[in-house]
This record gives sequence, C-alpha cells and structure tokens, in this order.
Amino acid sequence: MTDRTYTVDDVKANAPEIAPADLVEWVTTIANLAKPKDIFWVDGTDAEWDLLTGQMVESGMFTRLNPEKRPNSFLARSLPSDVARVESRTYICSEKEEDAGPTNNWADPKEMKETLGRVFDGAMRGRTMYVIPFSMGPVGGPISQLGVEISDSPYVVVNMRIMTRMGTPALELIGKGQEWVPAVHSVGYPLIDAEGNERPDTTWPCNDEKYITHFPETNEIWSYGSGYGGNALLGKKCFALRIASTMAKRDGWMAEHMLILRLTEEATGKQFHVTAAFPSACGKTNLAMLQPTIEGYKVETIGDDIAWMRPGPDGTLRAINPEAGFFGVAPGTSYDTNPMAMETARANSIFTNVALTDDGDVWWEGIDGEMPDHLIDWHGNDYTKSDAEAGKLAAHPNSRFTVPASQCPIICPDWEAPEGVPVDAILFGGRRATNVPLVAEQYSPDHGVFIGASVASEVTAAATDVEAGSLRHDPFAMLPFIGYNMADYWGHWTELQEKLGDKFPKIYQVNWFRKDEDGKFMWPGFGDNSRVLDWIVRRADGRVETVDGITGRYPKFEDFNLDGLDIGEDEWNALFETDPDAWATEIDSVEEYFSKFGDRVPASVRGQLDEFRKRIEAARAN
Ligand code: GTP
Ligand code: SPV
Ligand code: MN
Repeated sequence: MTDRTYTVDDVKANAPEIAPADLVEWVTTIANLAKPKDIFWVDGTDAEWDLLTGQMVESGMFTRLNPEKRPNSFLARSLPSDVARVESRTYICSEKEEDAGPTNNWADPKEMKETLGRVFDGAMRGRTMYVIPFSMGPVGGPISQLGVEISDSPYVVVNMRIMTRMGTPALELIGKGQEWVPAVHSVGYPLIDAEGNERPDTTWPCNDEKYITHFPETNEIWSYGSGYGGNALLGKKCFALRIASTMAKRDGWMAEHMLILRLTEEATGKQFHVTAAFPSACGKTNLAMLQPTIEGYKVETIGDDIAWMRPGPDGTLRAINPEAGFFGVAPGTSYDTNPMAMETARANSIFTNVALTDDGDVWWEGIDGEMPDHLIDWHGNDYTKSDAEAGKLAAHPNSRFTVPASQCPIICPDWEAPEGVPVDAILFGGRRATNVPLVAEQYSPDHGVFIGASVASEVTAAATDVEAGSLRHDPFAMLPFIGYNMADYWGHWTELQEKLGDKFPKIYQVNWFRKDEDGKFMWPGFGDNSRVLDWIVRRADGRVETVDGITGRYPKFEDFNLDGLDIGEDEWNALFETDPDAWATEIDSVEEYFSKFGDRVPASVRGQLDEFRKRIEAARAN
C-alpha cells in the first residue's frame, strides 16, 4: 500500500492559525515517520473532552461510570503487561555516559534515534495522531514551561487535559515564540501494517517492546510501547522531572519529586509552606491533603507529586506545582485515610485499573465500607468474596485516579500563584520498617543534603520491574526521575544551599512506616502526621529544643503533642530507637552506594559519612 505523505502545507492547512512554523514542520516530520491516518490538533475545550470520551466509550476503551454516582467519569482497564512505569526501559540519552550516571540506563543518542526511527516508522498507521500543546505550571508564569506532546492515544489526551494546562492558551504562547519541549508518544500498535493488512483495535493497545527515552541536551522526549501513566503522560515524569531536572541544573533551579502544602497556624495566622519528597506510593498524596487530628492548624494542598523551585526576588526558595491534576494511587484511599482525595474524585475523573461495582461505581482494596458481593475486577472478570479469600486483588495495586486539582476541597487559594510560595521546610521520607526514627532535623545544610542522598525505601508497586518490598537506595526520591548524574545533582543542591544561605529551608527526615516485632505500624500516620508538622513549625521559630541523636536532632518527648494517642514514653522511645550496630551496617551500605559515583560525590556530602560514624561511636560510648 502507499502511505499518505504529509506536506508542510497540508499540515498547516489543518492546524490552528496560531501554530508557528517550527511546530508545523515538526508535526509534519513526525507524521511522515509514524504515518497516521489523520492529525487532530487538541484545543482543550469541554466539547473536545465530550467528543473524545464519547468515542472511547464507543470503542470500549472507557466504561462510563454511573452519572448519578460519579458524573462525567470513566474507567479504563489496561493490559496486565502495562500497569506502571518500566524503569528498565527508561533511558537517558546524553552524549556522555557519565552524564547519565550509574543510576540511569544510558544509550548513545545517535543509536537510540536510529532505534526510535525504526520503531516509530508506521507506528500510527490507521490511527489519529493528536497534537497536544500544554503548559507545566500556570500558563505564562515565570517558573512555568511549555511542551507539545504528539500521541496516538486518546486516553493520553483526556488524561493530559486533567494533568496539565492543555490546549489553546499554551499554543498561543508557543505561537508567540516561547520555547517548548517536543515529546513524541506512540502506544506502538498500528492498525494497518506496511503491506496494508488491517487488524482491529483493542481496548488497551500497547507493545511488548517499550522505550521511554530522554535527550537532555536537546530537551527531547520519545516514548514508545506503553499507554500507562508516567510512561505516556509525558508532561509528568519525562518532562517535569527528567528533562526539567537537567534544565534546572543548567539554569539554577530545582525540579523535585515533592508535594507542596500550606500549613496555617490558626492562632497567629502564620503560614508555613512545606515540601516533601517520598518515593512513589509512599504517601505524598496523603500528606498533601492531610486532615490534622490536632487543633490549631489548617492544611491546604498545592501539589501532590512534583515541585519546581526557584530562588525568588526576595532570596527565598519559591515553589510551584507544575501539574493541574493528581494521578493518585487508588488502593488504600478512603474517607478514613484521605477524605479530601475521595472528594476530589467525585466527578470529572478517570479511573484506571480499579474494580467496577454493579451500580456503575468504582471500588478498590481499602476503600470505605464492606466489599460488595459482586464486582468486575481490573481484568474485566467477575470477582466475588471467594476471589478475595483466595488472595486475588480486585484493583491493581498501582491502579490510579486522574482528578482535577481544582476540585480538591482544600486546594490552596494560591495554588496557581505564578511566582510560587516560599518554602519553609523540606521533608525526606520513605518506607522504613526499621532504623529510621519518626522525625529528625538536619545538623547542618550539608547534613540535610546527606539525609536526602542516603534515603532508602521499600519498593512499592509504582514500577513493574523492581521487586516490591525490597529495600533500595532512592536518593531524594529521585532515583527513577533524575535526568543526569545523581551525584552532580547532590552538588546542585549544595550550590543552591550556598547561594540562598540562611534562607534555604531546613531539611527533615521523616518515617511513618516503622513496624514493631509483630509487623504492625508503630505510628498511626495519616492525619496524625500533623503532629510532626506541628513540631517542625514550633521548631522553626525556636519554640522547642532538640535532643542530639545518630541520624539528626530529635524532638523532646514532653514537647511533642501526643494528646489522644496511645503512645507513652516507651512507645515514643521505640519510635526513635537508633541501634548503633544497625546504623553501622546501614552506613556501610550508604558508603558503598556513594562509591558507585566515584569522585563526583560532593566532598561536603561525603564528609557527612565521618560525622555519622562519630555519632555512632558516641552513642556506643554512652
Ligand atoms: P506517587 O503518586 O506514586 O508518587 O505516590 P505518593 O507518594 O503520592 O503515594 P500515595 O500518597 O498515594 O501513597 C499511597 C500509599 O501510602 C497508600 O497505600 C497509603 O495507604 C499509604 N500511606 C500514606 N500515608 C501513610 C501513613 O501516614 N502511614 C501509613 N502506614 N501508610 C500511609
Ligand atoms: C510515580 O510513580 O511516582 C507516579 C506515578 O507518580 S507515574 O506518573 O505513573 O510515574
Ligand atoms: Mn510520583
């Protein structure tokens, strides 16, 4: 068969008038490579959402949920082979391998472009190619960035509409000559082959061969073979973290895997802004939407996954949430654990890989109430109590909701402030059953960076190809997301600390996940994490003193608000226990990990290893 050839004039004729020449040319080039049947320029309107979701319901990719229970909301079920990020297929294609660093898969940019040229050739045959202009951050804001994703997936378009500022306003700025990041995506399931043979579409097209690739020196993204989450919604991890982290290193700002929240002390009206980096599925969404169990504070949400931070004109560190929605883990979310997330997902939402109830609503493990007698599970099969008893899950552990941030009842009135909010404290955490205390404050800025660099966490279901439950080093919760050499990134942090001096926020390490001998969580977590924030706030203006410990400065028992909890001094001590022998072993593992990076580890960070060992010895002497 002969493929349709696109000329620049064809493409221009069908493009919005404001589309600039360089964009039209790029779209033409990609169209001639991927060979779609037509091109659809996305405008981001309600009418377009209705059109595309309607088409997807018709094709079977979406199930419309009961409009009375979950208005304007949809369920998608992916293939079991495409349920999360694939770290082993994620590449940083810098000119030099050492610039990707030992934690990233590296590929030579020229070779990878050849591979991509092969797999993208004809990849969109028989499909519509969508052109998706978007802004990460408020459109036109000083910290915001523009991008254009090309994708053959309508699922990507409607998710991007929730997760980014997508459509005409972003295209207008691109038309005015602002820089933009090109991002190409295909599910890799053409409906017609090179010989012209047709095949029917499936409800979750994808390909077993996957490439999630980044070219940091030219700010390009190419993603092939997956339709799911961070693999396919390229504004999120690919742009806002991997590419943005390299831009940020060049230009003196930060792109971080962090939530942002505002805590207001009601008595004084004083506002504190906290950012927190936890690895995937370790509680960012929950903390971002915290409902304090103690009196005197109000929490407002600004972001739940990514923070872009930049020194502001007043010398403080300013943070924005580059996203416009939440792509949150469903299992475990309930009115009990995260009522604000439940409220946010009441309408206009997309659910992926959760279970369906007989009355057309969603269900997942850990949601409120009894399990209904009958469900359709995430595979599309009948599911009853006997399946649950046999240990089968109705929802995939990495099943997610895509919801507009604006629908969050406690969204901060300044969540779209283009200049960002001033950050007062930065938290690092992870899932640690042992060793790591509930909260510790940095001894010094260098120690703060060391805290971030030495984070280890038990692996969750957010990636398909790492063993869940195993402990791995995940510095700054950025292991899967840093776009360059991890150790250079630590150096970038120390440079910004030096630049901002006293105005750089203090760093804290937290751990909600410590377990006792019976495997029970020792800390109630969720809303009770407000008690830790309360202590950090009082600490910020020197209202409380600390006790020196191995991993940092700890709260004094008498200063910490435990009212209404069943935690006495013994339980408290258990939450803060730091066994010197266990820590001697852990610090050996940190040192071994650092040695992977050779002399790229900043001296100030490496020096903290000695300080740490001195504290271990001092604890032994006591
Ligand atoms: P990504 O979106 O993957 O980056 O993850 P996230 O960090 O936003 O994850 P999320 O907040 O959705 O965390 C999901 C899991 O953490 C759920 O299983 C929650 O039940 C659990 N979780 C969150 N906060 C707490 C807590 O304070 N204590 C305990 N024990 N579990 C928690
Ligand atoms: C994560 O894995 O950290 C996520 C989900 O936030 S995804 O966007 O799929 O990467
Ligand atoms: Mn994340």
